Amino acid sequence: MSIDKLWLLAAGSITAVAYFAVRLVHHRLKYRDLPCPPHSMLWGHLKVFGKYVKSFPQGAYIQPTITQLKIDYNLPDIFYLDLWPLGPQFMILAAPEACAIPTTENTFDQHDVVTDFFNRGVGTGFIEATNGALWKHLHRTLAPGLTPSIVKGYYPTIVEEAVAIRRRFWGIAKSGEVADIRHELGHFPFNVMGKVLLDETLSVQIYEDICAAFDAQTAVNRTDNPFTKWRLGKDVRRQDLMQLMLDNAKGLLLAGFGTTADTSTYILMLLSAFPEALQKLREEHDRVFDKDHDKTVQMLQEQPGLIRSLPYTTAVINETLRMFNAGLSIRVGPSTMPTMEYKGRSYPLKDQVVAISQHAMHCDSKYFDEPKLFKPDRFMSEEPSFPRNAYRPFEKGLRSCLGQPLAMDEMKIMLVMVARSFDFELRDHNPSDKPKYSFTDLDTKLGDHAIQHWAYTAGPAGKVMMKVTERSTAN
Ligand code: HEM
Repeated sequence: MSIDKLWLLAAGSITAVAYFAVRLVHHRLKYRDLPCPPHSMLWGHLKVFGKYVKSFPQGAYIQPTITQLKIDYNLPDIFYLDLWPLGPQFMILAAPEACAIPTTENTFDQHDVVTDFFNRGVGTGFIEATNGALWKHLHRTLAPGLTPSIVKGYYPTIVEEAVAIRRRFWGIAKSGEVADIRHELGHFPFNVMGKVLLDETLSVQIYEDICAAFDAQTAVNRTDNPFTKWRLGKDVRRQDLMQLMLDNAKGLLLAGFGTTADTSTYILMLLSAFPEALQKLREEHDRVFDKDHDKTVQMLQEQPGLIRSLPYTTAVINETLRMFNAGLSIRVGPSTMPTMEYKGRSYPLKDQVVAISQHAMHCDSKYFDEPKLFKPDRFMSEEPSFPRNAYRPFEKGLRSCLGQPLAMDEMKIMLVMVARSFDFELRDHNPSDKPKYSFTDLDTKLGDHAIQHWAYTAGPAGKVMMKVTERSTAN
Protein backbone atom coordinates (compact mmCIF):
# COMPACT_ATOMS: atom_id res chain seq x y z
CA MET A 1 0.00 0.00 0.00
CA SER A 2 1.40 3.46 -0.89
CA ILE A 3 2.31 6.03 1.83
CA ASP A 4 -0.55 8.29 0.63
CA LYS A 5 -3.07 5.52 1.05
CA LEU A 6 -1.71 4.70 4.53
CA TRP A 7 -2.06 8.35 5.56
CA LEU A 8 -5.57 8.43 4.21
CA LEU A 9 -6.45 5.28 6.12
CA ALA A 10 -4.91 6.60 9.34
CA ALA A 11 -6.71 9.94 8.98
CA GLY A 12 -10.00 8.16 8.29
CA SER A 13 -9.57 5.91 11.33
CA ILE A 14 -8.67 8.84 13.61
CA THR A 15 -11.73 10.79 12.40
CA ALA A 16 -13.98 7.77 12.99
CA VAL A 17 -12.57 7.22 16.51
CA ALA A 18 -12.88 10.95 17.32
CA TYR A 19 -16.45 11.00 16.02
CA PHE A 20 -17.34 7.96 18.11
CA ALA A 21 -15.65 9.45 21.21
CA VAL A 22 -17.62 12.70 20.85
CA ARG A 23 -20.86 10.77 20.40
CA LEU A 24 -20.03 8.55 23.34
CA VAL A 25 -19.37 11.49 25.68
CA HIS A 26 -22.43 13.34 24.41
CA HIS A 27 -24.56 10.23 24.91
CA ARG A 28 -23.23 9.24 28.34
CA LEU A 29 -23.57 12.79 29.70
CA LYS A 30 -27.35 12.49 29.23
CA TYR A 31 -27.39 10.04 32.15
CA ARG A 32 -25.67 12.41 34.60
CA ASP A 33 -28.80 13.21 36.57
CA LEU A 34 -31.01 10.26 35.68
CA PRO A 35 -32.01 7.57 38.19
CA CYS A 36 -30.05 4.44 37.32
CA PRO A 37 -27.50 1.92 38.65
CA PRO A 38 -23.86 3.16 38.83
CA HIS A 39 -23.08 4.58 35.38
CA SER A 40 -19.69 4.63 33.67
CA MET A 41 -18.66 7.21 31.05
CA LEU A 42 -16.95 4.48 29.08
CA TRP A 43 -19.30 1.54 29.52
CA GLY A 44 -22.62 3.10 30.42
CA HIS A 45 -24.43 0.17 32.07
CA LEU A 46 -22.98 -2.46 29.77
CA LYS A 47 -20.60 -3.81 32.41
CA VAL A 48 -22.96 -3.76 35.36
CA PHE A 49 -25.83 -5.25 33.34
CA GLY A 50 -23.48 -7.84 31.83
CA LYS A 51 -22.48 -8.89 35.34
CA TYR A 52 -26.15 -9.45 36.24
CA VAL A 53 -26.92 -11.32 33.04
CA LYS A 54 -23.95 -13.62 33.80
CA SER A 55 -25.21 -14.28 37.32
CA PHE A 56 -28.38 -15.81 35.82
CA PRO A 57 -28.49 -19.05 33.82
CA GLN A 58 -27.89 -18.75 30.10
CA GLY A 59 -31.11 -17.90 28.24
CA ALA A 60 -32.82 -16.52 31.37
CA TYR A 61 -35.74 -14.15 30.91
CA ILE A 62 -34.74 -10.50 31.25
CA GLN A 63 -37.43 -9.53 33.80
CA PRO A 64 -35.99 -11.38 36.84
CA THR A 65 -32.55 -9.91 36.02
CA ILE A 66 -34.04 -6.42 36.14
CA THR A 67 -35.90 -7.23 39.36
CA GLN A 68 -32.65 -8.34 41.03
CA LEU A 69 -30.82 -5.22 39.77
CA LYS A 70 -33.61 -2.99 41.10
CA ILE A 71 -33.46 -4.64 44.54
CA ASP A 72 -29.65 -4.56 44.81
CA TYR A 73 -29.33 -0.88 43.88
CA ASN A 74 -32.56 0.16 45.54
CA LEU A 75 -33.71 1.74 42.30
CA PRO A 76 -36.81 3.97 42.18
CA ASP A 77 -40.15 3.61 40.33
CA ILE A 78 -38.60 4.74 37.03
CA PHE A 79 -34.97 4.10 36.16
CA TYR A 80 -32.76 3.91 33.09
CA LEU A 81 -30.35 1.38 31.63
CA ASP A 82 -27.83 2.65 29.11
CA LEU A 83 -26.73 -0.28 26.96
CA TRP A 84 -25.70 1.87 23.98
CA PRO A 85 -23.99 1.15 21.56
CA LEU A 86 -24.46 -2.64 21.92
CA GLY A 87 -28.07 -2.67 23.10
CA PRO A 88 -31.12 -0.49 23.62
CA GLN A 89 -31.56 2.43 25.95
CA PHE A 90 -34.12 1.22 28.44
CA MET A 91 -36.49 3.29 30.53
CA ILE A 92 -37.84 0.84 33.09
CA LEU A 93 -41.18 1.38 34.79
CA ALA A 94 -41.63 -0.54 38.04
CA ALA A 95 -44.50 1.14 39.88
CA PRO A 96 -48.26 0.99 39.18
CA GLU A 97 -48.71 4.76 38.70
CA ALA A 98 -45.68 4.91 36.37
CA CYS A 99 -46.97 1.98 34.30
CA ALA A 100 -50.35 3.67 33.96
CA ILE A 101 -48.82 6.49 31.87
CA PRO A 102 -48.08 4.47 28.68
CA THR A 103 -50.93 1.97 29.10
CA THR A 104 -54.12 3.37 30.62
CA GLU A 105 -53.57 7.16 30.70
CA ASN A 106 -52.11 7.10 27.16
CA THR A 107 -51.69 4.29 24.68
CA PHE A 108 -48.04 4.25 23.63
CA ASP A 109 -47.21 2.35 20.46
CA GLN A 110 -45.44 -0.99 20.40
CA HIS A 111 -41.71 -0.45 19.92
CA ASP A 112 -39.97 -1.55 16.69
CA VAL A 113 -38.20 -4.28 18.63
CA VAL A 114 -41.61 -5.93 19.12
CA THR A 115 -42.45 -5.66 15.43
CA ASP A 116 -39.03 -7.10 14.49
CA PHE A 117 -39.52 -9.94 16.95
CA PHE A 118 -42.87 -10.97 15.43
CA ASN A 119 -41.63 -10.39 11.93
CA ARG A 120 -39.13 -13.20 12.40
CA GLY A 121 -41.63 -15.91 13.27
CA VAL A 122 -45.16 -14.76 12.62
CA GLY A 123 -45.45 -11.74 10.35
CA THR A 124 -45.77 -8.00 10.84
CA GLY A 125 -49.56 -8.15 10.39
CA PHE A 126 -50.08 -9.86 13.76
CA ILE A 127 -52.09 -7.51 15.97
CA GLU A 128 -49.48 -7.39 18.74
CA ALA A 129 -46.89 -6.09 16.25
CA THR A 130 -49.10 -3.39 14.75
CA ASN A 131 -49.88 0.21 15.61
CA GLY A 132 -52.22 2.97 14.46
CA ALA A 133 -55.08 2.37 12.03
CA LEU A 134 -54.15 -1.25 11.31
CA TRP A 135 -54.11 -2.12 15.04
CA LYS A 136 -57.52 -0.42 15.48
CA HIS A 137 -58.94 -2.41 12.56
CA LEU A 138 -57.55 -5.71 13.88
CA HIS A 139 -58.70 -4.97 17.41
CA ARG A 140 -62.23 -4.24 16.15
CA THR A 141 -62.16 -7.51 14.19
CA LEU A 142 -60.57 -9.86 16.75
CA ALA A 143 -61.71 -8.60 20.16
CA PRO A 144 -65.42 -9.52 19.72
CA GLY A 145 -64.40 -13.17 19.12
CA LEU A 146 -62.62 -13.44 22.48
CA THR A 147 -65.04 -11.82 24.96
CA PRO A 148 -65.98 -13.81 28.10
CA SER A 149 -69.45 -14.62 26.73
CA ILE A 150 -68.08 -15.81 23.37
CA VAL A 151 -65.43 -17.88 25.18
CA LYS A 152 -68.25 -19.70 27.00
CA GLY A 153 -69.33 -20.96 23.59
CA TYR A 154 -65.91 -22.61 23.21
CA TYR A 155 -66.38 -24.67 26.39
CA PRO A 156 -67.37 -27.90 24.61
CA THR A 157 -64.08 -27.75 22.67
CA ILE A 158 -62.05 -26.83 25.74
CA VAL A 159 -63.63 -29.59 27.84
CA GLU A 160 -63.07 -32.13 25.04
CA GLU A 161 -59.38 -31.20 24.89
CA ALA A 162 -59.08 -31.22 28.71
CA VAL A 163 -60.53 -34.75 28.75
CA ALA A 164 -57.87 -35.69 26.19
CA ILE A 165 -55.07 -34.27 28.34
CA ARG A 166 -56.44 -36.21 31.35
CA ARG A 167 -56.34 -39.36 29.23
CA ARG A 168 -52.69 -38.67 28.38
CA PHE A 169 -51.89 -38.29 32.09
CA TRP A 170 -53.58 -41.64 32.80
CA GLY A 171 -51.33 -43.21 30.19
CA ILE A 172 -48.22 -41.63 31.74
CA ALA A 173 -49.26 -42.66 35.27
CA LYS A 174 -49.89 -46.24 34.14
CA SER A 175 -46.56 -46.46 32.30
CA GLY A 176 -44.72 -45.38 35.46
CA GLU A 177 -42.41 -43.27 33.31
CA VAL A 178 -41.31 -39.74 34.13
CA ALA A 179 -42.68 -37.40 31.46
CA ASP A 180 -42.11 -33.86 30.19
CA ILE A 181 -45.28 -32.25 31.53
CA ARG A 182 -44.73 -29.00 29.69
CA HIS A 183 -44.76 -30.87 26.39
CA GLU A 184 -47.85 -32.85 27.38
CA LEU A 185 -49.74 -29.75 28.51
CA GLY A 186 -48.78 -27.93 25.31
CA HIS A 187 -51.17 -30.13 23.31
CA PHE A 188 -54.10 -28.70 25.22
CA PRO A 189 -54.00 -24.94 24.45
CA PHE A 190 -52.60 -25.63 20.98
CA ASN A 191 -55.53 -27.84 20.03
CA VAL A 192 -58.02 -25.43 21.62
CA MET A 193 -56.55 -22.48 19.71
CA GLY A 194 -56.49 -24.51 16.50
CA LYS A 195 -60.17 -25.33 16.79
CA VAL A 196 -61.18 -21.86 17.96
CA LEU A 197 -59.25 -20.15 15.17
CA LEU A 198 -59.56 -22.49 12.27
CA ASP A 199 -63.09 -23.70 12.78
CA GLU A 200 -64.98 -24.71 9.71
CA THR A 201 -66.33 -21.26 8.95
CA LEU A 202 -62.91 -19.66 8.99
CA SER A 203 -61.33 -22.45 6.95
CA VAL A 204 -64.03 -22.10 4.29
CA GLN A 205 -63.61 -18.32 4.35
CA ILE A 206 -59.82 -18.60 3.97
CA TYR A 207 -60.23 -21.15 1.16
CA GLU A 208 -62.70 -18.93 -0.71
CA ASP A 209 -60.48 -15.88 -0.34
CA ILE A 210 -57.36 -17.70 -1.51
CA CYS A 211 -59.16 -18.98 -4.63
CA ALA A 212 -60.65 -15.57 -5.41
CA ALA A 213 -57.29 -13.85 -4.96
CA PHE A 214 -55.47 -16.36 -7.21
CA ASP A 215 -58.17 -16.13 -9.92
CA ALA A 216 -58.03 -12.35 -9.85
CA GLN A 217 -54.23 -12.27 -10.09
CA THR A 218 -54.26 -14.60 -13.10
CA ALA A 219 -56.95 -12.52 -14.83
CA VAL A 220 -55.10 -9.24 -14.16
CA ASN A 221 -51.94 -10.69 -15.71
CA ARG A 222 -53.87 -11.72 -18.85
CA THR A 223 -55.67 -8.45 -19.65
CA ASP A 224 -54.42 -5.12 -21.03
CA ASN A 225 -57.73 -3.38 -20.47
CA PRO A 226 -57.09 -0.73 -17.72
CA PHE A 227 -60.72 -0.80 -16.55
CA THR A 228 -60.66 -4.59 -16.10
CA LYS A 229 -57.28 -4.30 -14.35
CA TRP A 230 -58.76 -1.74 -11.92
CA ARG A 231 -61.89 -3.85 -11.31
CA LEU A 232 -59.92 -7.05 -10.71
CA GLY A 233 -57.29 -5.18 -8.68
CA LYS A 234 -59.83 -4.96 -5.87
CA ASP A 235 -59.72 -8.74 -5.63
CA VAL A 236 -55.93 -8.82 -5.79
CA ARG A 237 -55.93 -6.67 -2.68
CA ARG A 238 -57.58 -9.63 -0.98
CA GLN A 239 -54.12 -11.16 -0.97
CA ASP A 240 -53.12 -8.53 1.60
CA LEU A 241 -56.15 -9.58 3.57
CA MET A 242 -55.04 -13.20 3.29
CA GLN A 243 -51.59 -12.32 4.58
CA LEU A 244 -53.17 -10.42 7.45
CA MET A 245 -55.38 -13.37 8.34
CA LEU A 246 -52.46 -15.75 8.18
CA ASP A 247 -50.24 -13.51 10.32
CA ASN A 248 -52.99 -13.25 12.91
CA ALA A 249 -53.86 -16.95 12.88
CA LYS A 250 -50.17 -17.80 13.41
CA GLY A 251 -49.74 -15.02 15.97
CA LEU A 252 -52.79 -16.03 17.99
CA LEU A 253 -51.67 -19.64 17.99
CA LEU A 254 -48.30 -18.53 19.30
CA ALA A 255 -49.64 -15.99 21.83
CA GLY A 256 -52.30 -18.37 23.07
CA PHE A 257 -50.34 -21.58 23.20
CA GLY A 258 -46.94 -20.93 24.84
CA THR A 259 -48.23 -18.58 27.54
CA THR A 260 -51.03 -20.91 28.61
CA ALA A 261 -48.94 -24.09 28.42
CA ASP A 262 -46.11 -22.55 30.45
CA THR A 263 -48.45 -21.08 33.07
CA SER A 264 -50.30 -24.41 33.36
CA THR A 265 -46.94 -26.15 33.86
CA TYR A 266 -45.98 -23.71 36.61
CA ILE A 267 -49.36 -24.26 38.28
CA LEU A 268 -48.76 -28.02 38.48
CA MET A 269 -45.19 -27.45 39.72
CA LEU A 270 -46.34 -25.05 42.45
CA LEU A 271 -49.22 -27.30 43.51
CA SER A 272 -46.82 -30.21 43.82
CA ALA A 273 -44.52 -28.06 45.98
CA PHE A 274 -47.34 -26.64 48.15
CA PRO A 275 -49.63 -29.56 49.10
CA GLU A 276 -51.86 -27.43 51.35
CA ALA A 277 -52.85 -25.28 48.33
CA LEU A 278 -53.53 -28.45 46.31
CA GLN A 279 -55.72 -29.75 49.12
CA LYS A 280 -57.81 -26.54 49.17
CA LEU A 281 -58.14 -26.61 45.39
CA ARG A 282 -59.37 -30.22 45.46
CA GLU A 283 -61.86 -29.37 48.21
CA GLU A 284 -63.28 -26.60 46.05
CA HIS A 285 -63.65 -28.97 43.09
CA ASP A 286 -65.35 -31.54 45.35
CA ARG A 287 -67.80 -28.87 46.54
CA VAL A 288 -68.70 -27.56 43.09
CA PHE A 289 -68.51 -30.70 40.94
CA ASP A 290 -69.39 -34.34 41.26
CA LYS A 291 -66.77 -36.78 42.54
CA ASP A 292 -67.41 -38.89 39.48
CA HIS A 293 -65.32 -37.82 36.47
CA ASP A 294 -67.97 -38.45 33.79
CA LYS A 295 -70.59 -36.53 35.75
CA THR A 296 -68.12 -33.67 36.19
CA VAL A 297 -67.57 -33.56 32.41
CA GLN A 298 -71.33 -33.47 31.93
CA MET A 299 -71.67 -30.66 34.47
CA LEU A 300 -68.96 -28.66 32.71
CA GLN A 301 -70.76 -29.06 29.39
CA GLU A 302 -74.25 -28.32 30.69
CA GLN A 303 -73.54 -25.64 33.30
CA PRO A 304 -70.74 -23.48 31.88
CA GLY A 305 -71.34 -20.90 34.63
CA LEU A 306 -69.71 -23.25 37.16
CA ILE A 307 -66.27 -22.46 35.75
CA ARG A 308 -66.70 -18.85 36.71
CA SER A 309 -67.56 -19.82 40.32
CA LEU A 310 -64.22 -21.28 41.38
CA PRO A 311 -62.57 -18.54 43.48
CA TYR A 312 -59.75 -20.64 44.92
CA THR A 313 -58.87 -22.16 41.54
CA THR A 314 -58.81 -18.65 40.08
CA ALA A 315 -56.63 -17.51 43.00
CA VAL A 316 -54.13 -20.34 42.35
CA ILE A 317 -53.82 -19.27 38.71
CA ASN A 318 -53.51 -15.59 39.66
CA GLU A 319 -50.82 -16.31 42.23
CA THR A 320 -48.90 -18.45 39.72
CA LEU A 321 -49.05 -15.60 37.20
CA ARG A 322 -47.87 -13.17 39.88
CA MET A 323 -44.74 -15.25 40.46
CA PHE A 324 -44.23 -16.29 36.83
CA ASN A 325 -45.62 -13.67 34.46
CA ALA A 326 -45.22 -14.79 30.88
CA GLY A 327 -45.51 -11.61 28.82
CA LEU A 328 -43.27 -8.63 28.17
CA SER A 329 -44.46 -5.11 27.37
CA ILE A 330 -42.22 -2.81 25.38
CA ARG A 331 -43.43 0.56 24.17
CA VAL A 332 -42.18 3.73 22.51
CA GLY A 333 -43.16 7.25 23.56
CA PRO A 334 -44.96 9.41 20.96
CA SER A 335 -42.79 11.95 19.11
CA THR A 336 -45.02 14.70 20.53
CA MET A 337 -44.06 13.69 24.08
CA PRO A 338 -40.29 14.15 24.62
CA THR A 339 -40.63 13.71 28.40
CA MET A 340 -42.88 11.86 30.80
CA GLU A 341 -44.03 13.66 33.94
CA TYR A 342 -44.14 11.53 37.09
CA LYS A 343 -44.49 12.66 40.71
CA GLY A 344 -43.24 16.18 39.98
CA ARG A 345 -40.26 15.16 37.84
CA SER A 346 -39.62 15.09 34.09
CA TYR A 347 -38.22 11.86 32.62
CA PRO A 348 -36.73 11.93 29.09
CA LEU A 349 -38.55 9.59 26.70
CA LYS A 350 -36.77 10.30 23.42
CA ASP A 351 -34.95 7.25 21.98
CA GLN A 352 -35.96 5.15 24.98
CA VAL A 353 -37.31 1.62 24.87
CA VAL A 354 -40.04 1.88 27.51
CA ALA A 355 -40.18 -1.44 29.38
CA ILE A 356 -42.95 -2.27 31.85
CA SER A 357 -41.43 -4.43 34.53
CA GLN A 358 -44.41 -6.38 35.81
CA HIS A 359 -42.12 -8.90 37.49
CA ALA A 360 -40.38 -6.26 39.64
CA MET A 361 -43.77 -5.08 40.94
CA HIS A 362 -45.03 -8.61 41.50
CA CYS A 363 -41.95 -9.30 43.68
CA ASP A 364 -42.02 -6.00 45.57
CA SER A 365 -42.99 -6.12 49.26
CA LYS A 366 -44.21 -2.51 48.89
CA TYR A 367 -47.14 -3.93 46.93
CA PHE A 368 -47.40 -7.62 47.84
CA ASP A 369 -47.16 -8.81 51.41
CA GLU A 370 -44.47 -11.56 51.70
CA PRO A 371 -43.92 -11.69 47.94
CA LYS A 372 -41.70 -14.78 48.06
CA LEU A 373 -44.53 -16.89 49.44
CA PHE A 374 -46.94 -18.80 47.20
CA LYS A 375 -50.12 -17.49 48.82
CA PRO A 376 -53.23 -17.87 46.60
CA ASP A 377 -55.30 -16.54 49.52
CA ARG A 378 -54.07 -13.03 48.80
CA PHE A 379 -56.46 -13.11 45.83
CA MET A 380 -59.45 -14.37 47.82
CA SER A 381 -60.74 -11.23 49.50
CA GLU A 382 -63.05 -8.89 47.61
CA GLU A 383 -60.85 -5.94 48.49
CA PRO A 384 -57.35 -7.22 47.69
CA SER A 385 -54.48 -6.38 50.03
CA PHE A 386 -52.40 -5.06 47.11
CA PRO A 387 -52.95 -2.15 44.70
CA ARG A 388 -54.89 -3.62 41.76
CA ASN A 389 -52.64 -1.85 39.26
CA ALA A 390 -49.54 -3.53 40.70
CA TYR A 391 -50.82 -6.89 39.42
CA ARG A 392 -50.41 -6.94 35.64
CA PRO A 393 -49.83 -10.42 34.16
CA PHE A 394 -52.09 -9.59 31.19
CA GLU A 395 -51.06 -5.91 31.17
CA LYS A 396 -53.63 -3.11 31.32
CA GLY A 397 -55.26 -0.67 28.94
CA LEU A 398 -56.21 -0.96 25.29
CA ARG A 399 -53.12 -3.04 24.42
CA SER A 400 -53.71 -5.58 27.17
CA CYS A 401 -54.13 -9.29 26.44
CA LEU A 402 -57.11 -10.12 24.22
CA GLY A 403 -56.97 -13.79 25.22
CA GLN A 404 -57.28 -13.36 29.01
CA PRO A 405 -60.82 -14.83 29.33
CA LEU A 406 -59.91 -17.78 27.11
CA ALA A 407 -56.61 -18.45 28.90
CA MET A 408 -58.18 -18.25 32.38
CA ASP A 409 -61.07 -20.56 31.49
CA GLU A 410 -58.75 -23.05 29.75
CA MET A 411 -56.53 -23.29 32.82
CA LYS A 412 -59.49 -23.65 35.19
CA ILE A 413 -61.00 -26.44 33.11
CA MET A 414 -57.63 -28.20 32.90
CA LEU A 415 -57.32 -28.05 36.69
CA VAL A 416 -60.84 -29.41 37.23
CA MET A 417 -59.97 -32.31 34.94
CA VAL A 418 -56.60 -33.27 36.43
CA ALA A 419 -56.08 -31.91 39.97
CA ARG A 420 -58.29 -34.45 41.75
CA SER A 421 -57.05 -37.40 39.73
CA PHE A 422 -53.26 -37.18 39.89
CA ASP A 423 -50.33 -36.30 42.08
CA PHE A 424 -47.36 -34.67 40.38
CA GLU A 425 -43.76 -34.70 41.54
CA LEU A 426 -40.87 -32.80 39.96
CA ARG A 427 -37.83 -34.79 38.87
CA ASP A 428 -34.38 -33.85 37.50
CA HIS A 429 -34.92 -30.21 38.47
CA ASN A 430 -31.78 -29.62 40.50
CA PRO A 431 -33.15 -27.84 43.61
CA SER A 432 -30.73 -25.43 45.36
CA ASP A 433 -29.72 -25.91 49.00
CA LYS A 434 -30.24 -22.23 49.63
CA PRO A 435 -31.78 -19.45 47.51
CA LYS A 436 -29.47 -18.03 44.85
CA TYR A 437 -31.35 -14.74 44.37
CA SER A 438 -32.96 -12.38 46.85
CA PHE A 439 -36.33 -11.96 45.08
CA THR A 440 -37.27 -15.66 45.23
CA ASP A 441 -36.54 -18.80 47.19
CA LEU A 442 -38.51 -21.05 44.88
CA ASP A 443 -35.24 -22.44 43.48
CA THR A 444 -35.06 -24.54 46.66
CA LYS A 445 -38.26 -26.27 45.52
CA LEU A 446 -38.49 -25.87 41.73
CA GLY A 447 -34.74 -25.90 41.07
CA ASP A 448 -33.76 -24.77 37.56
CA HIS A 449 -37.36 -23.88 36.71
CA ALA A 450 -37.56 -21.13 39.34
CA ILE A 451 -35.86 -18.78 36.87
CA GLN A 452 -37.93 -18.36 33.72
CA HIS A 453 -36.26 -18.74 30.35
CA TRP A 454 -37.13 -16.85 27.22
CA ALA A 455 -38.35 -18.59 24.07
CA TYR A 456 -41.34 -16.87 22.45
CA THR A 457 -42.72 -16.36 25.94
CA ALA A 458 -41.15 -16.75 29.38
CA GLY A 459 -41.33 -20.33 30.59
CA PRO A 460 -39.55 -23.05 32.54
CA ALA A 461 -35.96 -24.02 31.77
CA GLY A 462 -36.36 -26.72 29.14
CA LYS A 463 -38.20 -29.96 29.79
CA VAL A 464 -40.22 -30.22 32.99
CA MET A 465 -39.87 -33.83 34.03
CA MET A 466 -42.53 -34.99 36.46
CA LYS A 467 -43.67 -38.26 37.92
CA VAL A 468 -47.44 -38.56 37.56
CA THR A 469 -49.26 -40.89 39.94
CA GLU A 470 -52.87 -41.85 39.98
CA ARG A 471 -54.37 -40.57 43.23
CA SER A 472 -55.59 -43.41 45.43
CA THR A 473 -58.92 -41.60 45.98
CA ALA A 474 -59.24 -40.67 42.30
CA ASN A 475 -62.45 -41.65 40.57
C1 HEM B 1 -51.56 -17.25 30.54
C2 HEM B 1 -51.83 -16.84 29.34
C3 HEM B 1 -51.49 -15.48 28.77
C4 HEM B 1 -50.73 -14.46 29.29
C5 HEM B 1 -49.98 -14.42 30.61
C6 HEM B 1 -50.76 -13.38 28.32
C7 HEM B 1 -50.13 -12.16 28.50
C8 HEM B 1 -50.21 -11.12 27.60
C9 HEM B 1 -49.60 -9.82 27.80
C10 HEM B 1 -48.79 -9.40 29.01
C11 HEM B 1 -49.89 -9.07 26.71
C12 HEM B 1 -49.49 -7.62 26.47
C13 HEM B 1 -48.24 -7.58 25.67
C14 HEM B 1 -47.78 -6.17 25.47
O1 HEM B 1 -47.97 -5.34 26.35
O2 HEM B 1 -47.21 -5.92 24.43
C15 HEM B 1 -50.67 -9.88 25.81
C16 HEM B 1 -51.13 -9.46 24.59
C17 HEM B 1 -51.89 -10.23 23.75
N1 HEM B 1 -52.34 -11.51 23.99
FE1 HEM B 1 -52.02 -12.62 25.65
N2 HEM B 1 -51.52 -13.78 27.25
C18 HEM B 1 -51.99 -15.04 27.49
C19 HEM B 1 -52.82 -15.79 26.67
C20 HEM B 1 -53.33 -15.38 25.47
C21 HEM B 1 -54.23 -16.13 24.63
C22 HEM B 1 -54.84 -17.49 24.98
C23 HEM B 1 -54.44 -15.39 23.50
C24 HEM B 1 -55.26 -15.70 22.28
C25 HEM B 1 -56.42 -16.16 22.26
C26 HEM B 1 -53.70 -14.15 23.64
C27 HEM B 1 -53.68 -13.14 22.73
C28 HEM B 1 -53.07 -11.93 22.90
C29 HEM B 1 -53.08 -10.87 21.90
C30 HEM B 1 -53.77 -10.92 20.55
C31 HEM B 1 -52.35 -9.80 22.44
C32 HEM B 1 -52.05 -8.47 21.76
C33 HEM B 1 -53.11 -7.42 22.05
C34 HEM B 1 -52.81 -6.12 21.35
O3 HEM B 1 -51.67 -5.85 21.01
O4 HEM B 1 -53.76 -5.37 21.18
N3 HEM B 1 -53.04 -14.18 24.85
N4 HEM B 1 -50.85 -11.12 26.38
